[in-house]
Amino acid sequence: MSAPNSDYDPVEVTPLRADEVERMRDEALAAIAAADSIEALKQVKIEHVGDRSPLALANREIGALPPQARKEAGQRVGQARGAVSQALARRTDEVEAQEFERRLAAEAVDVTLPTDREPVGARHPLTTIQDHVSDIFVAMGWEIGEGPEVEAEWLNFDALNLGPDHPARTMMDTFWVTPESAAMVLRTHTSPVQARTMLTRTPPIYIACPGRVFRTDEPDATHAPVFHQVEGLAIDEGLSMAHLKGTLDHLARAIYGADITTRFRPSYFPFTEPSAEVDLLCYVCHNDPAHVADCPTCRGEGWVEWGGCGVVNPRVLIACGVDPERYSGFAFGMGLDRTITSRYDIADLRDLWDGDIRFTEPFGIGL
Ligand code: PHE
Repeated sequence: MSAPNSDYDPVEVTPLRADEVERMRDEALAAIAAADSIEALKQVKIEHVGDRSPLALANREIGALPPQARKEAGQRVGQARGAVSQALARRTDEVEAQEFERRLAAEAVDVTLPTDREPVGARHPLTTIQDHVSDIFVAMGWEIGEGPEVEAEWLNFDALNLGPDHPARTMMDTFWVTPESAAMVLRTHTSPVQARTMLTRTPPIYIACPGRVFRTDEPDATHAPVFHQVEGLAIDEGLSMAHLKGTLDHLARAIYGADITTRFRPSYFPFTEPSAEVDLLCYVCHNDPAHVADCPTCRGEGWVEWGGCGVVNPRVLIACGVDPERYSGFAFGMGLDRTITSRYDIADLRDLWDGDIRFTEPFGIGL
C-alpha cells in the first residue's frame, strides 16, 4: 500500500497525501450516494468505512509519521472519515425512509375496491323468534301449523264462539276486507288456526302456529296494527288445565330462561272455559320493591302480560266437529313482539316493522 517512506515524509506516504485522502473520501461519498438499498449500503460500509477500507488503512499509517506531521495527517484523515460516516448515516436514513415508503405503497389496501365476499345479511328478529318457538314445540312432539292472514269471518269469530251479537266481538278492532259481503277479515288473532285444524284433523292434535295478526290499533311506541302471536292447541283424551299450565311453564322457561315465573289470572275468552291470562314475572326488575316502581319494562306492575289461554270451550269443539264427550283440550295465544322489544331494550315497537336494515343487521342470523 504505502510507498517507501524512509524519511517519514507524509507527502511521500501516499495514502496520507491530501489529494489521496480526498480521492478516497470522494470515492466513498460517491459510493454512498449511489447506494439505493440497505443491502448496498452495507456493502459500501464494509468497503469504505470498515477496518479494511482505504481510509481506515490510511489512518493506521499515521502512527508511522514523525510526531510533527501526525497532527495534520490525523486531521485530514479524521475529517474525511467523519464526512464519510456522516454521509453514510444520512444516506441510511434516507434509504430506510424510501424503503418504508415503498413497502407502504406495495402493501396499501384500497378499502374502496369491490369485494367478492358476500355479506350474509341478517334475519328479522321476529322471524328468528318464531323459528325458535317452533323448535321448542317440535322438541315436545308438536306439529307446526299455518293459516292464512286474510281469514274467513266465520273462522276468525263464529267458529270460536264469537257470534255476530257476541259482546266480546268488539274487543278486537277488526280490519275488514272489501267487499264486506265477502265476509273476510285480516285475522285478529291466530286462533282461527285452531278451528281450521280441528275441522280437518282428528284428535289427538298438538299443534302450534306462529304468525302475524292485525288489529286497527293506531301505531305508536307500544301499539302496532300488525303484531305476532304463537297459537297452541292440544286436543286429546283427558287433557286439563294442569297440562296447559305445564306446557306454558315449559315454553316460558325455554324462551326466557329457567328462573322465569308465570302467573295465571282468571279471565274471559269466548273460545275457552275456564280462561286465564298469563303473565311473566318481570324479567327486568323481578318485581323487586327497590326497582319495580321505575321499571320501564313492566311499568311498575312487576308482571308482564304474555298471552291468553284456557280449556277449549265445548261449543268450539262442537262447531269444529270434535266430540266433547270424548275429547278435551287447551289452547293459548302468546304475543311475540314484546319478547323482542323487552329482551333487546327496544323502546319503540315501530322499529320492528319499519323495514330499516340498519335495525335488523345487528341481530345477525341468530337470537
Ligand atoms: N286469541 C286470544 C287473543 O288474541 C288469545 C287466546 C288464544 C286465548 C287461545 C285463549 C286461547 O287475545
